[in-house]
Parts: sequence; C-alpha cells; structure tokens
Amino acid sequence: MLEKLNELERKALQQIKEINEIGQLNDLRVKLLGRKGELTQLLRGLKDLSADQRAEVGRVANELKERVENMLQQRNEELQKQVLNERLEAETIDVTLPGIPLLRGGKHPLTQIREEIQDIFISMGFSVAEGPEVELDYYNFEALNIPKDHPARDMQDSFYIDEDVLLRTHTSPVQVRTMEAMAPQLPVKIIVPGKVYRKDDDATHSPMFHQVEGLLVDTNITFAHLKAVLMTFARKIFGEQVKVRYRPSFFPFTEPSAEMDISCVHCNGEGCRVCSHTGWLEILGAGMVHPRVLEYGGYDPEKVSGFAFGMGIERIAMLKYGVNDLRLFFDNDLRFLKQF
Ligand code: DAH
Repeated sequence: MLEKLNELERKALQQIKEINEIGQLNDLRVKLLGRKGELTQLLRGLKDLSADQRAEVGRVANELKERVENMLQQRNEELQKQVLNERLEAETIDVTLPGIPLLRGGKHPLTQIREEIQDIFISMGFSVAEGPEVELDYYNFEALNIPKDHPARDMQDSFYIDEDVLLRTHTSPVQVRTMEAMAPQLPVKIIVPGKVYRKDDDATHSPMFHQVEGLLVDTNITFAHLKAVLMTFARKIFGEQVKVRYRPSFFPFTEPSAEMDISCVHCNGEGCRVCSHTGWLEILGAGMVHPRVLEYGGYDPEKVSGFAFGMGIERIAMLKYGVNDLRLFFDNDLRFLKQF
C-alpha cells in the first residue's frame, strides 16, 4: 500500500509539472484528491489492514496529500504569473509610436470679420444688441416706416411664417426693439450683428446672410457724427489709405439716406474689374433716423436725433479677402476655409 502511495505521488508530481493551463490543473486536483479521486480509491484498501498499519498508512497518506496540495498550489501560482506576464507583454504601449494628431479648429472667416467689426465699434463706445430672427412684420417693416403695400418691401422678398410673422430680412428691426426697451434713456448706441433671410440665391446673394446694424440716438446728433464714425470704421477695417464717399439714396427708415462707398480695395481707386472700372465699391446703407422711427421707438424727434447704418458681413469679407463667390462661405469646404 505504501508503495502504491509512493507511486501515486510520483505520478502526481509528474503530471502537475506537465500541466500548462490553470483549468487543467483544477481537473487534475479533482482526479487526484477529489471524493472519487485516485487517493480516495487507494485508501479504500485501508479497511483490510491491521490497526497499526492503518495508522501508519493514514499518516503517510495525509503527508502525501499535503505535499500534492502544495505542489498544485505552487504550480497554480506559476501559471498565474505566466498568464500575467504574457498579458503584460501583449499589452505594452510603445510610447515612441506617433500619436493621432488632434485637428485644431479655427474660426469661420465670417465669424472673424464679425468680431473685427464688433471690436471696432466697441472701441468707439457701442454696445452689442441682439434680436429675434423670427420677427414680427411690425418690427421688420411697419415700425421702420415701411407700411403694407409699400414698394420698398419688394427689395426684401421675405420668408413669411404667417401674415404677421416672418424671417427678418434685415437687422434694422432691432433698432426699434432696442429703443422701446431703453426709452427715455440716452444715448442709444448699439451695433446689432445677426443672421437675416431673403429669397435670393446667386453668386453674391444667399437666402441666409449676415448683417451688422448700427444705431446712435442722442441729443444733437448730426450727419457729421455719422461720417466720423463710418470713416473711422472704414479705415480700421480696410486700412488707413481708404477713401469714402456718400451717394444720396433712399431707405424708408432714414431721412436723408445715403450709401457709403469705399475706394476700391483692389485697384486703390484706379478702376478694375472688381469695381466695374468705377474705382468705388458700395459697402453700406446709412442715414439720419426717420422721425417716425424715433417715435415708434418711444423718443421725441423734436428733442433727439440719430443716425443708423447697415452692412452685409459677407460683402465686407468678400472685399477684404478677395473672394468672388459668396457661396464659398457656406459650402463647408475645408480647402477654402483653412486659408483664413
Ligand atoms: N436695412 C437695410 C438693408 O437691409 C440696410 C440699412 C440701410 C440699414 C440704411 C440702416 C440704414 O440702418 O440706415 O438693406
């Protein structure tokens, strides 16, 4: 019996050594030491032995069991270490490999120009005001002295939501909204950047585009103030060399009204294709705020006066950057946008 035990131990140790997988090691434990395992089988023979022999064999069997347990435990640890090492090996990170480059975004050219325009007017003491893009007919037209059926509405063919509500066709409605909110405080000195909408679509017109409106209302404001502010603006955005001129024009919400031209930024006023050989480029509409608009805003036109202006951001950007098709700003083509 002792010999058989010896033999069992020898075989067991050999088998344990040969095992290379933790799962198999567990199977082997069951096979050797389990309730129906080899050792249990062997010890069935105990009942045929004398009491002395039984004690002796029992002791040896217990020691054997302990040694085999230890071996199993040791092998288990070895195998676990091996598995861990293999994993560490497989998962090492090579910090010298090139990384994934992070794409850095930039501001859209129209955003850059808008911010540049804002900064210029903020430096002259204007604040930035905003208004809704879905606007009442009242603010978009009526309160700007453009009654229903007035021919001036034809210039601004609009997207109507219903009879009284539309997508604003210009930023001018914010003039009256701001005056209403501020009256009777003075001065009203705002610029209004924002999106506007018209039923146009070609190389120089888009159904959605951007404007910056300006409004200054105070006591004794004259056309000289208008000229000084807009001259300063033109020089800051297009350069000190730029010249400006005013042509009489018509807007229902200003009287008198004018359009401001700048000397052509391409030929410096010599005459070229960009300025249709006139030497001048139209960049904005302006004028003295119409008395009726002041009244709509809650101010007394006998006591205060003001000037207003409005310009298209896309137009300024096209002239400044020499872009000849407005749609390029909205195509989202990175080859174009990356240049700014
Ligand atoms: N709202 C006009 C337009 O969209 C532009 C404009 C002209 C605004 C004269 C003004 C102004 O404030 O005084 O065509």
